[in-house]
Parts: sequence; structure tokens; C-alpha cells
Amino acid sequence: MFGSTFFITALFLIYQPIVWAAPASSESSASPDSPSSPSSVSSAPTQSFTAGLTSDDPNDSLFDQFQNEIPEAIRGTLGATVIGPQNVIEDRLSPDFLAPPSTDAGSVANAKWPFSLSHNRLQTGGWARQENVQVMPIATEMAGVDMRLQAERELHWHSTGEWGFIFKGQVQITAVMSGGTNYIADLDAGDVWYFPSGIPHSIQATNQSAAGAEFLLVFDSGSFSEDDTFLLTDWLAHIPKEILAKNFRTSIEAFDHIPATELYIFPSSPPPPAAQNAVSDPNGQVPQALSFPWSKSARTPLAGGSVKILDSTTFPISQTIAAADVTVGVGGMRELHWHPTQDEWSYFISGTARVTIFAAEGNARTFDYQAGDIGYVPASCGHYVENIGNDTLEFLEIFKSNKFEDISLNQWLALTPPDLVKAHLNIDDATIALFNKSEQTVV
Ligand SMILES: *[C@@H]1O[C@H](CO)[C@@H](O)[C@H](O)[C@H]1NC(C)=O
Ligand SMILES: *[C@@H]1O[C@H](CO)[C@@H](O)[C@H](O)[C@H]1NC(C)=O
Ligand SMILES: *[C@@H]1O[C@H](CO)[C@@H](O)[C@H](O)[C@H]1NC(C)=O
Ligand SMILES: *[C@@H]1O[C@H](CO)[C@@H](O)[C@H](O)[C@H]1NC(C)=O
Repeated sequence: MFGSTFFITALFLIYQPIVWAAPASSESSASPDSPSSPSSVSSAPTQSFTAGLTSDDPNDSLFDQFQNEIPEAIRGTLGATVIGPQNVIEDRLSPDFLAPPSTDAGSVANAKWPFSLSHNRLQTGGWARQENVQVMPIATEMAGVDMRLQAERELHWHSTGEWGFIFKGQVQITAVMSGGTNYIADLDAGDVWYFPSGIPHSIQATNQSAAGAEFLLVFDSGSFSEDDTFLLTDWLAHIPKEILAKNFRTSIEAFDHIPATELYIFPSSPPPPAAQNAVSDPNGQVPQALSFPWSKSARTPLAGGSVKILDSTTFPISQTIAAADVTVGVGGMRELHWHPTQDEWSYFISGTARVTIFAAEGNARTFDYQAGDIGYVPASCGHYVENIGNDTLEFLEIFKSNKFEDISLNQWLALTPPDLVKAHLNIDDATIALFNKSEQTVV
């Protein structure tokens, strides 16, 4: 409540001279040139603040407390015990839903989806589960799939771009681009691939580790569904066989044994190393590599953790996905910031996080995340990511963009005239002096 009053006051102070100067204002009877009309900020009403945030009571995470006792809908003097049925396990995973900080207000659509709540498609030699707008309507720009392979992901394509990140194991990918250039690569855990929209590809676990591989796929459309990709076998099973014979200049019988239904994920023998398996291509090299050895990129150390960024500046083919891999040490925090025009699709790799999304007009909501959860922050919404656990927090920030971009609250205020900042926040010079002109990212 305070927040909105405050911002209205602040906006009033900022915009007042502009409103006065606007000739189009029908309510102003005085012309802007009239000497009697206010023409400078000196005639603005004196600054007045509503009552400050006088309570210094923290609105801490209740995560630890909820692990060790039955979660209650109580924060300080607010709330009451739960006396009806209770899903204790869910309440332990999202303490800030049951007992939100008193700074939460209004409505922010749900921005948490654990892959654990997704339907899983079990196949021989693997599985796949997905998140898209069907389960998380706020996530309109990107969708995700968690895929496990001891085997082969069938040759296929789709109308969206695909960004892949390997959690464990090694995979061999293949693709053929328009113009007939081909690509093959062996990738390790932490490496990334990108298949542009419509480019046919395959993903196969190698036998480097007996367990195979598991990886994350992010698609540049929130309505993507893993179940409606274009599969090689599905297509050929839906073409009259004489057409196949004519197309490949062979007999109808040559296609007597093609599968009648799609394979999707199926067992196959592991591939030889890429160097041996490559098909010689008379059409030349792909213009840009379709994978990036991100596992070998150095992390930038930061006060509270580290970051590494991968976007089209270093991985040129990745025109629709940019990413940051962020670690936050115990007690640390990805600082207050926002992304100017890009929604963020986040994936939590390890640790426990608390995030408050500020969605303007007094709306704010706090979410808690663990490894395996997906988060989503719409473009321009302010947020932080706090490590509330006992282990390093690691997560991916993913954007439908060719460039990683963010705005740091701290840096913004440090680079703004101090008197202007003081006029808004009623803070002293000592506090202003702590603001940092270089971006901190993780504190
Ligand atoms: C939470 O923080 C707000 C703002 O500082 C404060 O007014 C409130 O008293 C705090 N709530 C509790 C339960 O401590
Ligand atoms: C992995 O597969 C390759 C090619 O199929 C084979 O040559 C190699 O011996 C296999 N390695 C292991 C450890 O099974
Ligand atoms: C952190 O450790 C404390 C003490 O062992 C424990 O009570 C708490 O549940 C742990 N928190 C998390 C997030 O694991
Ligand atoms: C600002 O951050 C840099 C590192 O990014 C640090 O060296 C410096 O001490 C910081 N300055 C202040 C005023 O905190």
C-alpha cells in the first residue's frame, strides 16, 4: 500500500512540469506562455512523503523453519494456524505462498513450475517431460523439455528454435542446414547446442558413460509441444509408398520395413566418435557451428558468486536464445535487476532460491524454487534471486533474444545524479556512497 502511494507521489513530482507545459491539456485554462501559469519546478508543491517503512522487522524466508516444523500460515503477528487439511510437503516447498512477506501485494500470475508436476513420456531407453503455456500460462515466450536418453532421439524438426544444455553424460548431435551443409559434434555436460527453426536434427547418447545422458531443451515459443514435432518415421508412414519409390527412384518394396508408427525415442547402438561418424559433404561447411563448448568457458567471479553468459556475440547461430549460468554462494543474492525487453525463463540446477517478482502498480509476489524447478519473469519486472539454502545455488537465466541484457538497480541509481535519487528515497549521502557504478550481478 505504501509502495503505490510513494510511487504516485514520486511520479507526480517528476511529471508535473511536463503536464503543465502540455498545450494539449484541456483542463488547463492558462496558456503555457501565460506569465501567471507555473513555469518552473520552484512553484511545485513542497515534497512530502507518506509515512516511511518504519518497521525493520525482517520478512525472512521461512524455508528452514518449515523443514523442521509443521508449516503454519503465520508471519509475525499476521495469520493463523492451518486447522483444515494440509499438504505439508507442498507448503515446505513454497513457504512464501503459505506465509508471504508483507511486502507481497496484488496479483502476479504463477511463475513456478516444477518438472516433477509434468506428465512424463516413458519410452524404451529414455523419457521426456515438458513445460509450456498449458501448465504455466505466464510463460508465453519459451517452453522447456527435460529429456533423458540412453538411446536415440529420432531424426526430426520443428517450427521453433531449440537450445539444448547437457546436465549429465555426452551426446552426439547431427543436423543438415538449408543448402545441404551438414553438422556433427560430440558434446559434454555443460555444453550447448542450437538448432534454428525447421532445421532437421538428431540427438544420441554416446557410450562415454553407461548411464547415457540427460539434458534441458528450451524452445523459443511458449506454446511448443514436444508431442507435435515433425518426425522422420511419422512422415514416411503417411506417404503413399509409390510416392516414396518415385522420390528415391527405387521400388515400392524397398520401403516394406519402415516403421508404421513414430519411434520418438528408441534404442540403437551407440555412435562412433563424431570425427569417424561424419558424412563427407560436397556442399561445404555449415556457415556457423551449431554447438558451443560452454563447459569450457571461464566463469566471471563476482562478490557473491559467479556468472557466465552465452549469446550470439560468442555463439552466432543462437539468434533466438541468450543465456546466463549464475552461481550464488550461501547467503548471497543475484542483485535486484530487470531485463529491459526480454522475458526470463529460469531453470534451477541446484540449491534453494527465493525470488520476488515486482510487476508494477503495487503488484509483487514471492516464489521459492529448488533444483528441477522452472521460473518465469516477464520483461521489465524487477526481481532478485536469493540463495536461502545451505549449498551453492546454480540456475540458468534464458531469454528469447540474441543478446543478454539486464539493468541493475544499484548501477542505475549510482549513475543518476545523487540529489535526484535522494529526492525520491529520502536516504543519506553515506547510503548513496555505497551504490556502485559497476554492475555487481551477484552480491
Ligand atoms: C515485514 O516487513 C514490513 C516492511 O518492512 C513490515 O512492515 C512488517 O512489519 C514485516 N512483517 C513482519 C511480520 O515482520
Ligand atoms: C562405444 O561405442 C563405440 C562405437 O560403437 C565402440 O567402438 C566402443 O568400443 C564403445 N565403447 C565402450 C566403452 O563401450
Ligand atoms: C540448512 O541447515 C539447517 C541446519 O542443519 C537445516 O535446519 C535447514 O533445513 C537447512 N536448509 C536447507 C534449505 O537445506
Ligand atoms: C564497486 O564494485 C567493485 C567491483 O565490481 C569494487 O571493486 C568496488 O569496491 C565497489 N565500490 C563500492 C563503492 O562498493
